[in-house]
Amino acid sequence: MNASTFTTRFRAAMMPTVPSPLAMLSHGKGARVWDVEGTEYLDFLGGIAVNALGHAHPVFTRAVSAQAERLAHISNYFASEPELALAERLTRLTGGDAVYFTNSGTEAIEAAVKLARRTGRPRILSLTGSFHGRTMGALSLTGKPVLQDPFRPLLPGSSRSRRPSRRSRRRWPTTSPPSWSSRSRARPVSSTCRTATSPPREN
Ligand SMILES: Cc1ncc(COP(=O)(O)O)c(C=O)c1O
Repeated sequence: MNASTFTTRFRAAMMPTVPSPLAMLSHGKGARVWDVEGTEYLDFLGGIAVNALGHAHPVFTRAVSAQAERLAHISNYFASEPELALAERLTRLTGGDAVYFTNSGTEAIEAAVKLARRTGRPRILSLTGSFHGRTMGALSLTGKPVLQDPFRPLLPGSSRSRRPSRRSRRRWPTTSPPSWSSRSRARPVSSTCRTATSPPREN
């Protein structure tokens, strides 16, 4: 399939919630991915830094296949051993008390907002130009009016702070949530990403 066929099919079948994809990928191996026309890319994105596991690694493939052969989706009325083992491992590695699994970044933001509300703090501060997701709560924190305007009114109590300059960022106070270890400190950071095709391989 060539790029223009793909774009036509994509626009016909998908709701226009995001811009057209940069490429139609066919497969990957390690840190490389290929599009349907055979162009090779170096995958620096890792699902926007979500799954930096590479592609088609045999250990990953075996683990996913083994689980798919045993048990698929079971809702939150039930639990399974791998889910519990992962939660226990994450609490061990992070020093946190407990784990809450979500299906997406936007749900993680929603959970953080709800957690803050449970502590009685009604106001949420985020940075201008930031992106936090597309559900209503996360969108309320996203500092991009172009994404927010079509969906107003947004969640009350959210406000934006200007992105700190490099110099002022050094002076920003770090925060230590009370239940974290004294060595854990969080600083506001922002990120953007770019994509580029890889240069020809030299071999
Ligand atoms: C910083 C940040 N927060 C939240 C999200 C939302 O994640 P998701 O697309 O998994 O809902 C993204 C997605 O790009 C993100 O970059």
